[in-house]
Amino acid sequence: MDADGLFITIEGIDGSGKSTQIARLAEALCAQGRTVITTREPGGSPGAEEIRRLLVEGPPERWSAETEILLFTAARRDHMERTIAPALARGDIVLCDRFIDSTRAYQGHGPLRTMVDTLHELAIGREPDLTLLLDIDPENAFERAGQRAGGEDRFEQHGLSFQRTLRATFKDLAKAHPERIKIIDAAGDPSEVAARLLNVVTEKLGV
Ligand code: TYD
Repeated sequence: MDADGLFITIEGIDGSGKSTQIARLAEALCAQGRTVITTREPGGSPGAEEIRRLLVEGPPERWSAETEILLFTAARRDHMERTIAPALARGDIVLCDRFIDSTRAYQGHGPLRTMVDTLHELAIGREPDLTLLLDIDPENAFERAGQRAGGEDRFEQHGLSFQRTLRATFKDLAKAHPERIKIIDAAGDPSEVAARLLNVVTEKLGV
């Protein structure tokens, strides 16, 4: 169904600069005459945006880890059905801010990793074609992370040590899937980071 499009996800710890970099990458690819859609998780379709509100608002203890995994997967299924798959079927490039690797890193601790992977296989059944991992020192990221949109602070309680663990987990995922996940140095000048991303994508596009 999605033979022609290219499904790219962007991952990284909080404050790694994903939003800025996705916008720049989309702009650069559009300038090459390509059709690009940008989307995000949790969210990216009307139904998944409703589930997003359940996930990002309220106190941290609102959901158990298992329920959280089910909600992220439900949101992802709707996002895949309504937004990602149709765009890929049209031959578009899909740039998605976070996807399954975020669930693996944020929710897939210890034995829960099996639940994350099994549900993904059953309900989604697709990995991205390319994943750009924006890698940055959490202290550096913390400094530049701005204030969050009103009320979306359920995950903001994550401390520095959690961000360090996340960074290590993302890097382990990249080591396990070197063909799919490319580590991008996200420190320094945003224009230089943007150029690094565009290089990797251009190589993948084979141009
Ligand atoms: P998002 O709004 O994308 O925040 P950020 O700008 O930091 O990327 O995502 C909200 C939070 O949801 C973020 O802290 C990461 C978390 N999250 C998970 O815990 N698991 C997931 O599967 C996804 C997609 C996001």
